[in-house]
Amino acid sequence: MAVTPPAGTAPLNVEALRKDFPLLTRTVHGRPIVYLDSASSALQPRSVIDAMTAYYETTHANVHRGVYATAEAATALYERARVVAGRFIGAPSPAHEIVFTKNTTESLNLVAHSWGRANLRAGDAILLTEMEHHANIVPWMILSEEIGGLDIRYIPIDGDGRLALDDLDALVDGVKLVGISAMSNVLGTIPPVARVAEAAHRAGAIVVVDGAQLVPHAPVDVTALGADFLAFSAHKTMGPTGIGVLWGRAALLDAMGPFLGGGGMILDVKLDSFRPAPPPARFEAGTPPIAEAVGLTAAIQYLSDIGIDRIRAHELALTNHALARLDEKLGADCRVFGPPAGPDRGGVMSLAYRDVHAHDLAQVLDQFGVCVRPGHHCAKPLMRKLGVQATARASLSLFSDEHDIEVLIEGLLEAGRLFG
Ligand code: ALA
Repeated sequence: MAVTPPAGTAPLNVEALRKDFPLLTRTVHGRPIVYLDSASSALQPRSVIDAMTAYYETTHANVHRGVYATAEAATALYERARVVAGRFIGAPSPAHEIVFTKNTTESLNLVAHSWGRANLRAGDAILLTEMEHHANIVPWMILSEEIGGLDIRYIPIDGDGRLALDDLDALVDGVKLVGISAMSNVLGTIPPVARVAEAAHRAGAIVVVDGAQLVPHAPVDVTALGADFLAFSAHKTMGPTGIGVLWGRAALLDAMGPFLGGGGMILDVKLDSFRPAPPPARFEAGTPPIAEAVGLTAAIQYLSDIGIDRIRAHELALTNHALARLDEKLGADCRVFGPPAGPDRGGVMSLAYRDVHAHDLAQVLDQFGVCVRPGHHCAKPLMRKLGVQATARASLSLFSDEHDIEVLIEGLLEAGRLFG
């Protein structure tokens, strides 16, 4: 999917925006922090931290239980977060279709558990992609073991790290579900989800989209994508840890059984039976992440006030700049996995530099204040396909700038001197 910002999108004032992030004022090993790990977890602007503090100081109570004033106010804030999160991704009916979970991983596990158990049988085929995060692979494998064996197939990637879709109709033929990441956390690839979803629907399959990497960085509309389920996390969207979002089509959620059992998800319980509540409560057992929902509202407000199109334009331009600079300064010594610079690539750059191990790269970069993630990025099948054990991943945010890229390059050159 090409995510190209509209022409004439106003540029970001990055210098001013950086002041919104308290963590960016700290130093590391005597150097200003260069935070290039937003794909792992984003930083929070002051407005998110303030909203959560204000909530704890003035309003905290459990939700959907008390009838006193602060309990009603807490419930209203929690339910408002549902609507805000739903509108952010174009959900047709947010109050009904948004389920709060712990993170993207839990959202995808919920789908595998509740939709999967009701709709998949031994021998059924499902189609994933070779660039999925473990969160969109392992839940299906667990389900497969439970029900006596699914036929799990994969859309391959090509040499550029794009999905190889020439035989798309053959790939989706006979499958009941397609699980696809809207943006790879390793390659930055933004695949044509809508095209895949159209073919999947023609074949009678549902489409489960892992939106963890794309939702924070580009406009997403679940209807335009053709998704049936879409998951994302607050902590990658400049909100707090501990709350994830699952959007599901109302008809699918209505037909699904519960995920976890407990308080809040029932209509009635007798000694020998229970009746589940309607969605979304059916899928939210126990006290939910209330302060985190308040933080999520503030985070989405922050991104929306800036404009997600402008954020995408900034990160796209900076990705293109970074790829060009890495090539100019490090040449063939530096391999960046994933597609060439362009509109189907997000701000994630997984690097290999000379023969230096990714963990050594990350440790030397740390001495320069640069935060990157080394490792397999919870995508081991993809690592095997790329023929590497690990990469060092630099990922951009709305506050990243050209200076950050220069410090990254400075650190890589030093790692080359030390280990190369
Ligand atoms: N899923 C997160 C990442 O890719 C943690 O880094």
